[in-house]
Amino acid sequence: MLGRAKITIVGAGNVGATTAHWCASKELGDIVLVDIIEGVPQGKGLDLYEASPVEGFDCKIVGSNDYAATANSDVVVITAGLPRKPGMSRDDLLFKNAEIVGGVTREIAKHSPSAILLIVSNPLDAMVQVAYNVSRFPKNRVMGMAGILDTARYRAFLAEAIGVSVEDIQALVLGGHGDDMVPLPSYTTVSGIPVTQLIDKKRLDEIIARTRGGGSEIVNLLKTGSAFYAPGAAACQMVEAIVRDKKRVLPCAAYLDGEYGERGVFVGVPCVLGAKGVERIIEVHMTLEEKEMLRVSVQHVRENCAKLPK
Ligand code: NAI
Ligand code: 2OP
Repeated sequence: MLGRAKITIVGAGNVGATTAHWCASKELGDIVLVDIIEGVPQGKGLDLYEASPVEGFDCKIVGSNDYAATANSDVVVITAGLPRKPGMSRDDLLFKNAEIVGGVTREIAKHSPSAILLIVSNPLDAMVQVAYNVSRFPKNRVMGMAGILDTARYRAFLAEAIGVSVEDIQALVLGGHGDDMVPLPSYTTVSGIPVTQLIDKKRLDEIIARTRGGGSEIVNLLKTGSAFYAPGAAACQMVEAIVRDKKRVLPCAAYLDGEYGERGVFVGVPCVLGAKGVERIIEVHMTLEEKEMLRVSVQHVRENCAKLPK
């Protein structure tokens, strides 16, 4: 890619603005923020741009309510939609957010037909399916962010419990972005040392349970919305992998076309992420128990997708 990448972020709320912040601070490209609320994307865009002389990043950042400003974006992050409140599950957002994500995707596909779409809105896996159906983009150019966030929570809790740097925990959390996500202890290491050598099973199981409820833990603390710092950082890591063609191996919601024995569904699996989007899905060996957990999680995603209007 010659010159700067053009990154559009739709939804200038908590996750969208935070993603913009992380992307700008890493100088990943010029950024367009879009929202339906007049003044909000413009105000946040201008405010973030005004931070650039202090922080020393060269990015143009603008906000708009008009998709013309997003034309020919390279990467589009869709965060538009409702967040959940205490007592709500991600699935409670299905119908309203499907309408929002569908409408946003239609506009984006019209103005940026070659873009890579990165969906964040919940319920995540079903919203990626909506964006795929509406955009009719090839499967490698449509994906969702959740696995990096779920894995980050798992890594953070493990680092704290074991008393080591977060940087030294490698791990994988697969499956749908719901309470039935699938953390894989067999792929969890501390600088290559199997985690089971450093923590007992009871404590590990507690951490897995906390990871599964990680989204709700934040919602119950905030009371008015859901997490945004870690989700913004996770979305930014995917944008970086794409615009810098890094070939990062990251858990992303990707279209399964026979991989993991599943077809026609988006769910979190390890992907090679580069300039073409999802360039490859890596199939890892799993125990029978892990395979069963993944099957249950995929089934949940399929049930959500089946509820969507055709
Ligand atoms: P928020 O309420 O702070 O921001 C959402 C923004 O979307 C608002 O500014 C709203 O005006 C805008 N919006 C609504 N309809 C729109 C439309 N048709 N076009 C353009 N903009 C529109 O919510 P927050 O916290 O930023 O969360 C956004 C979404 O991301 C939620 O659905 C939330 O559940 C999801 N989420 C997903 C995560 C994941 O891991 N995949 C992590 C965190 C949040
Ligand atoms: C989370 O896991 C709300 O899905 C979001 O924090």
